[in-house]
Amino acid sequence: MPAPRARRILVTSALPYANGHIHLGHLVEYIQTDIFVRFQKLRGHRAVYLCADDTHGTAIMIRARAEGRSERELVASMREAHLADFAGFEVEFDHYGSTDSDANRRLCGEVWRALRARGLVTSRDVRQLFDPVAGVFLADRFVRGGCPKCGASDQYGDSCERCGATYGPADLVDPRSTLSGATPEVRSAEHLFVTIEALHDFLDHWTREAGALDPRVANYLAGHFLGEPLRDWDVSRPAPYFGFEIPDAPGHYWYVWFDAPVGYLAATDEWCAQHGESFDTWWRRAAAADAPAEIHHFIGKDITYFHTLFWPAMLEAAGLALPTKVRIHGFLTVDGQKMSKSRGTFLLARTYLDHLDPAALRYYYASKLSGGIDDIDLNLEEFAAKVNADLVGKVVNLASRTARWLEHTGLAADYPDDGGLFARAAGEGAEIAAAYEACDFARAMRTIMLAADRANAYVDAEQPWRLAKAGTGSAARLRDVATVALNLFRQLAVYLAPVLPRLAAQAGELVGGPIASWEESQAPLVGAAVGPFVPLMQRVEPKQIEAMLAASRESAAATPSGGTAVEADIGPPNTDSGAPLAAEPLAPTCTIDDFSRVDLRVARILSAEEVPEARKLLKLTVGLGGDSTRTVFAGIKGFHDPAALVGRLVVVVANLAPRQMKFGLSEGMVVAASGAGAEGVYLLSPDAGALPGMRLH
Ligand code: MSP
Ligand code: ZN
Repeated sequence: MPAPRARRILVTSALPYANGHIHLGHLVEYIQTDIFVRFQKLRGHRAVYLCADDTHGTAIMIRARAEGRSERELVASMREAHLADFAGFEVEFDHYGSTDSDANRRLCGEVWRALRARGLVTSRDVRQLFDPVAGVFLADRFVRGGCPKCGASDQYGDSCERCGATYGPADLVDPRSTLSGATPEVRSAEHLFVTIEALHDFLDHWTREAGALDPRVANYLAGHFLGEPLRDWDVSRPAPYFGFEIPDAPGHYWYVWFDAPVGYLAATDEWCAQHGESFDTWWRRAAAADAPAEIHHFIGKDITYFHTLFWPAMLEAAGLALPTKVRIHGFLTVDGQKMSKSRGTFLLARTYLDHLDPAALRYYYASKLSGGIDDIDLNLEEFAAKVNADLVGKVVNLASRTARWLEHTGLAADYPDDGGLFARAAGEGAEIAAAYEACDFARAMRTIMLAADRANAYVDAEQPWRLAKAGTGSAARLRDVATVALNLFRQLAVYLAPVLPRLAAQAGELVGGPIASWEESQAPLVGAAVGPFVPLMQRVEPKQIEAMLAASRESAAATPSGGTAVEADIGPPNTDSGAPLAAEPLAPTCTIDDFSRVDLRVARILSAEEVPEARKLLKLTVGLGGDSTRTVFAGIKGFHDPAALVGRLVVVVANLAPRQMKFGLSEGMVVAASGAGAEGVYLLSPDAGALPGMRLH
């Protein structure tokens, strides 16, 4: 039952793209939001947690094509996977929709008509790279080529990983489409734009005065966007595009970032229909005027301006309610570095769940999240240490070493003198709640763990195991001590319930029944029955973490694109000629041991020069990372311009016995492909993200 002064709180997480699996980075957001919602519900408020899959756009279209199925089939199977991952981490939505829904199409139309009615939609031609083989316009990340500034090869369409220059995809030297390998053409097409400059004053005011944003975010927006006229927002894409066709502009589709946030409205609409609620009282200003609902959006920092500029502008234009809070978090790093497929730290939710307890990650993230925008680091050693010390060592331990003394008798009939321990922790409830409300879960966890420390010190001092040995004379005292300990345990379980719902449920089964309200932290239980103690949580063992990393490395190797955008050459299937294989049949079988004697490594070409006396050789210096370099003579002269090689990654045989050549000592070999069907020597490049020194397995 909602309390009399219950707030109505609509809470969203950003809608995950349907073109990839949920990973531990995403979970920073979904776990954080879930904790917030569970906290609000525990406090008796009417909180609704809504989310959906973000299904539209080029990436989905390309991936579906590569997998040989329709977009809708891909979207449906990804939805199953996402829901299983979220359920595995106890992320509990009140409704999980899809941007590819009727409700979303209808609500997009409504917002669109409002923008039109206010004269905010214009159109003009846009020049964009087009892949003539794949038949699609190319987003920046589907184009690679030479950096126009430093010449480094194989750079993305928007920026150079070597010199950091930023540019447009059309500036690349020798651009090629990563979809088909074709050289893209520049094509012109009509796009529709929203003139958000017309809402500049509104945005100035809203970002600063409405209380929805951290002042640092407002300052960032003022400095980067609002200090000058806002550029028109390009909200349409020409066919072919997987999305909604714009009703009054046939052949044009809403850009995925137009229909994605409307997905928040659509999810609300669907939830309302299922629960006999009125959409209008949540989102329409007029209908909600006397008792407005709160709207909280949780997002990562990378999508800030969509949620703090475009989205409020759309809502304002359509006369819909504005977000009460946009809560922005930072990015996850693993062991201090960006998540990496080759290190095995691009950890998928599913891989984690195969090896570890979701509660461990929920607690660890809670202990790291302080409501700010800073990145958070998953330090795997600290993760194990913290979970073991706090959850197993302090919280669970409190019950595991006291519950059994009460299994037959239940709690004492009167609450014993505990030196004020329960009352003190009850008094801290308001402070813990305030920390949860501010999403400073780290502070909440610290306060809770200090209470756990005091509870354990009490048990250490009272030594119930001694009392148990001392026999019947100490039975009453033993019951009192265990009664105090179990009450302190249950009190901790109430405070931790938003973070650890399963632990809370188990605590309820042990003593006192299901934890349904925050108020249960305020008064001790007496006389209640105590159930049999079942182990509540296991320690995190280093070998589980190692096994998870190994499995993650393996699955990343099996799917080079890692389940995100497909970037490999896909081409039409089965049109490759058999010439190379026919001209050079496969070698006799070797064993894995044979193979592993050859130590193949990723290396970076540091310098390349011609060897004037040799017809075919280039002298290369390659780096294996750090100070480790090798001189290698490679038979690729004539096929490669030495200057263009500098900086690129190649594969070398790093343990080849050095060989004295006429021109110097060769300390390895650069691997390249050649054979019948095409002249030339083709160097191999690892996928983006590989680092010099990495071994090929
Ligand atoms: N589809 C868009 C959101 C549309 S909302 C109307 C999107 N999807 S996403 O799958 O890329 O990301 C979903 C959320 O997860 C975003 O808020 C994003 O910031 C967050 N994260 C994705 N990777 C992350 C980390 N590595 N670390 C922390 N959060 C991360 O953006
Ligand atoms: Zn460059």
